Amino acid sequence: MNPRTKALKAFARGQKGSRSTVTLTDNRTGQSLVLPILEGTEGPGVMDIRTLYSKTGLFTYDPGFTSTGSCKSAITYIDGEAGILMHRGYRIEALAEHSDYLEVCYLLINGELPTSEQKRKFMQALSDHTMVHEQIMKFFQGFRRDAHPMAIMVGMVGALSAFYHDDIHDFTSPEGRWIAVSRLLAKIPTIGAMAYKYSIGQPFIYPRNDLNYPENLLHMMFATPCENYLVSPIQARAIDRILILHADHEQNASTSTVRLAGSSGANPFACISAGIASLWGRAHGGANEAVLNMLREIGHKDNIPEFIRRAKDKDDPFRLMGFGHRVYKNHDPRAAVLRESCHEVLEELGYDNKPLLDLAMELEQIALEDNYFIRKKLFPNVDFYSGIILRALGIPTSMFTVLFAIARNVGWIAQWKEMTEDKAMKIGRPRQLYSGYNQRIYLPIEQRSKRRRRNVFPGIVPKQF
Ligand code: ACO
Repeated sequence: MNPRTKALKAFARGQKGSRSTVTLTDNRTGQSLVLPILEGTEGPGVMDIRTLYSKTGLFTYDPGFTSTGSCKSAITYIDGEAGILMHRGYRIEALAEHSDYLEVCYLLINGELPTSEQKRKFMQALSDHTMVHEQIMKFFQGFRRDAHPMAIMVGMVGALSAFYHDDIHDFTSPEGRWIAVSRLLAKIPTIGAMAYKYSIGQPFIYPRNDLNYPENLLHMMFATPCENYLVSPIQARAIDRILILHADHEQNASTSTVRLAGSSGANPFACISAGIASLWGRAHGGANEAVLNMLREIGHKDNIPEFIRRAKDKDDPFRLMGFGHRVYKNHDPRAAVLRESCHEVLEELGYDNKPLLDLAMELEQIALEDNYFIRKKLFPNVDFYSGIILRALGIPTSMFTVLFAIARNVGWIAQWKEMTEDKAMKIGRPRQLYSGYNQRIYLPIEQRSKRRRRNVFPGIVPKQF
């Protein structure tokens, strides 16, 4: 029996009656509970605690979900200790070298790499949806000129739910799901490029279906109606590789956000908008933009030691952006591919703004040799290098996270689709450890004390407008 079949059987057995178990004993009562261990096809098994509350009256406590499996998924596997990332069983290094982004999209969504005919049909289906409704264009006018493109993305992708709403589309049917998948994949690059054009006051450029995915994206971002814009193949290939490397990453913050939003049966466009919002944060997708801002702030090699000192200081909120990862504790395999690409692309492009790159390389070296970073297993992550490549490719800093969102869109869609097709799916509803007041008596306003407390609405808010 091959290992996959064996593991699947073990998993099924785990669902019904696992051979391996864990016994938990409550020291207060002496009561014991036997919990089954479910084995996946790779990686650590999981302790099935679904009966814990009904049998013991206890919840588990795991802020940040450091040890909690929230779902069963067959899409992506990460071994953080070994630095392995696989999509549907294919190593990320192989996909980055031999595949292209649309092929990876097909793989993530359908589970297999496409044949040429399947790929042709897939591309055709997407090209039918690359334009956005003309009414969508009018929405843009409501944003401030200086709005961050990610703010625009959150709003515009959420607005798609008003165009493709649940009354007309049955997203619980395979056809309804497929059309949502096609629209999201086809339209998000268009919206991302429009967000950029709006922020710089240039006219929107319509999608061109004769170009491939990254070429079309670059064309929509950089072409203008008054000049002939030719997409550089080097640039397009580099963007394609960045898209592949960011396509999916298991149950990260934004993907979990999409799953949680989708678990209530919410509109898929609204769910993806929630994912974009989560990705925007500096600790997640916003890190590549933060890396560039940090490098600018460091400014010169001589200042690196001071920033390293600050990163290590517990009382200083500063962190080295682009370092550390919740899961990877050895190296980030995507960072390894991008590090190589980074040098290739810079050479091919003849990029001569080397000081920033030199600064990044010096920072990388110093951090890799520093005891604090070694001890805490803080290695450069994918954002460290993607920021530098994107910069060299002439992508404006404010668009870095937008590109990440365009890339991760497929991961969110594939995970949303997998979840909605799972018959055992339940609405996501975590529990908590309550630390607030016990029951109190309601006092009329004149009897309440004026005792000052911290973190109370101060009654004065700075005027912004
Ligand atoms: N610089 C300095 N110290 C760090 C850094 C860093 N970049 N990252 C973690 N640490 C330290 C923490 O202070 C903590 O120290 P302590 O044990 O003494 O308290 C320890 O390492 C563990 O850090 P946590 O924040 O508990 O680790 P967690 O897994 O929760 O966070 C994260 C991971 C958010 C990525 C974190 O390393 C970080 O903020 N990195 C910088 C931002 C970044 O690059 N994000 C991109 C992530 S990759 C992605 O989204 C594609």
